[in-house]
Amino acid sequence: MLDLIETEKNFILPHIRQGKTAVDFTMGNGHDTLWLSRHMGKDGKVYAFDIQEKAIESTRKLLETEGAPNNYTLILASHHTVRDYVKEKICVGMFNLGYLPGGDKSLTTKRDTTLAAIEAALELLDADGALLIAVYPGHAEGAVEGRLINDTLSRLDRKEFCVSKLQIVNSPTSPFFFLVEKK
Ligand SMILES: C[S@@+](CC[C@H](N)C(=O)[O-])C[C@H]1O[C@@H](n2cnc3c(N)ncnc32)[C@H](O)[C@@H]1O
Repeated sequence: MLDLIETEKNFILPHIRQGKTAVDFTMGNGHDTLWLSRHMGKDGKVYAFDIQEKAIESTRKLLETEGAPNNYTLILASHHTVRDYVKEKICVGMFNLGYLPGGDKSLTTKRDTTLAAIEAALELLDADGALLIAVYPGHAEGAVEGRLINDTLSRLDRKEFCVSKLQIVNSPTSPFFFLVEKK
């Protein structure tokens, strides 16, 4: 069976530019931050955001244990404030929405801040850059978030962005993702 959350990374790989900047908008336990850190290389930069101290701690531990390049900055703040921290253009950005697996489900991503973070990410995106946005529609906030993101991304100018969506159509509560590529 297709594992969308593994498959999604193949879609941003062609947009990664070593030595440039990437953002993990939802750090969680740090698996995506680690992946980005390795792929951006020692001269690149990775900024990662989460609102939970617990996420910062487990991500730092993972990055250190795995010997990730020293190219990351872990930020305890909501991702919609990204412009306060990231001043340069980014080649890739990843959103893995929802809540920490095994954590407090009330600390999930929420529609207003998610949409504001996506708007900011679109502004930061460099030419030929890409965003990956994974949505978990199996819980109530995730379902609404997914619909609103779909509406927002559908309105983007197709001369500037190409927006794709990959979803398992006979399993509507399974995670799905959007790929936003800037021309
Ligand atoms: C599904 S987890 C992310 C998984 C992670 N990418 C990984 O590789 O382990 C979603 C994370 O988003 C975080 N989150 C929720 N609201 C947020 C916000 N406004 N800004 C940044 N992170 C947020 C949650 O605390 C949670 O850790």
